[in-house]
Amino acid sequence: MQDKEELFFNPDLTPDEFKRLGYKAIDMIADYYSHIRELPVFPARTSTEIESVFKEDLPASSQDPDDILNEWVSKILPNTTHLGSPRYFGFVNGSGSMIGTLAEALAAALNMNAGGWKPAPAATEIERRTIAWIAELIGYPVDCGGLFTSGGTIANFTAIETALRNVAPYDTTEKGLQNKEFKGRFTIYMSDHEGHVSIVRVADLLNLGRESIRLVKSNADFTMDTADLERKLDEDIAAGCVPFCVVAQVGSINVGAVDPLAEISRVCKLRGIWFHADGACGAVGAMLPEKRSMYEGLELADSVTLDPHKWLYIPYECGCVLVRDPEKLRRAFSLTAPYLHGVLPTEYTGMYYLDYGPQMSRGFLALKVWMTLKHYGAEGYRKLLAQNNKCVEYLDELVRGSDDFETFHKPSLFIYSFRYAPRKLKSNSALSKLELENKLDELNQRIADSIQLSGVAFVMTSKVLGKIVLRLSVCSHRTTLADIKLVFDKLRDIGDSLVNEMKR
Ligand SMILES: Cc1ncc(COP(=O)(O)O)c(C=O)c1O
Repeated sequence: MQDKEELFFNPDLTPDEFKRLGYKAIDMIADYYSHIRELPVFPARTSTEIESVFKEDLPASSQDPDDILNEWVSKILPNTTHLGSPRYFGFVNGSGSMIGTLAEALAAALNMNAGGWKPAPAATEIERRTIAWIAELIGYPVDCGGLFTSGGTIANFTAIETALRNVAPYDTTEKGLQNKEFKGRFTIYMSDHEGHVSIVRVADLLNLGRESIRLVKSNADFTMDTADLERKLDEDIAAGCVPFCVVAQVGSINVGAVDPLAEISRVCKLRGIWFHADGACGAVGAMLPEKRSMYEGLELADSVTLDPHKWLYIPYECGCVLVRDPEKLRRAFSLTAPYLHGVLPTEYTGMYYLDYGPQMSRGFLALKVWMTLKHYGAEGYRKLLAQNNKCVEYLDELVRGSDDFETFHKPSLFIYSFRYAPRKLKSNSALSKLELENKLDELNQRIADSIQLSGVAFVMTSKVLGKIVLRLSVCSHRTTLADIKLVFDKLRDIGDSLVNEMKR
């Protein structure tokens, strides 16, 4: 027996080795955080250059853990885009809380599988509690169902799958979409300008076909035109379709617009359609008393998506979906197999999250949200969110106060789009309207590329009303007004020198 056991390989570190390496890793992280402000936000290296850094043979034998950790400093950090930088404004990427970083390590140590209660009793109850806290924060019913997901897309998928399975006129869970008796088409609705592409991914995942997505006209403020929504719903119903879900934007991707939620709820209720609020970016803004009126009707949604890895500053990954009626969520996802829940009931069991979402095995995502919520408290979060909004209001002031920039919307939350459109170019009568627009498109794209390469800030482009715009998503808990001023000045300097270059 002893001889045989000696053959067993056990790669665990000794307690002393683990402590030494653990302290070293914490020192590395602490050092990183203390310099995060000064780091170039983007590594400004090409994919080929970075690929070559990591080109090495499969490690055949054991390597020294010190050497492995050292590669974090020598190889990983210099090739990283720093989402935790106060001047990272890309996509809608949160900045990552420090206590969330510790939570990730602690969660990994327990290695809980939060798909079931038996392998994860504490994780299950923490998730249940944290979901209720989030609901309370945004004014949604606290007895709702819900869970953490890998991100907003999967949260939207979870909500829309639940919608389909609860609204369809027959049992799609058993019969699927290939049902002889049903000849209609299931349809989903979102606004044409600000509706998010993740809903296209959901249509793909559900195999509904992308044509199942109906684009509803937008108002001048980029919110959904509910008169057009009603028209489209009624036309589709008359044509034999089954409209089953309307997706409202709650903090839209380009301009932070919040659709008229109460009105959309009314339209949906009247026709028995599921009302889903995609608040991946902005739902958590409902916790701000000064913004509360914008969110009127959010509490009426059948489901809400919100991403803790966006505006709650939780380290990746962490999405979240709330469903008003937990039973509807269970009906959409529950599965049975003798090896899942145990064949005969005992009192030592509880909620199985695998019955409430698409994943079976799942990590302890709730811990980082639970710990960060405790660390910041609701008050801390309100201050941080308000700070981000203030940054965008300040940016809007700078833009509106300048002859060289223009915007197409008023700031409502933390996302803002605008463009460099210098007077000297706009007043050039030699340019046709189309030539001017093309020039401005090119100029703004080059400004974004150039500021990224400078390392000063990470700004991306998008399109608003068909024009290329600079877009800032200010959802870092580290961003200050000084950062906003710095990035604005830098954008203008780059723009000015590009225009001068064009003239030469
Ligand atoms: C409105 C909206 N919904 C959904 C998503 C998708 O979220 P994720 O990238 O976490 O899947 C995003 C991402 O930016 C978004 O802005």
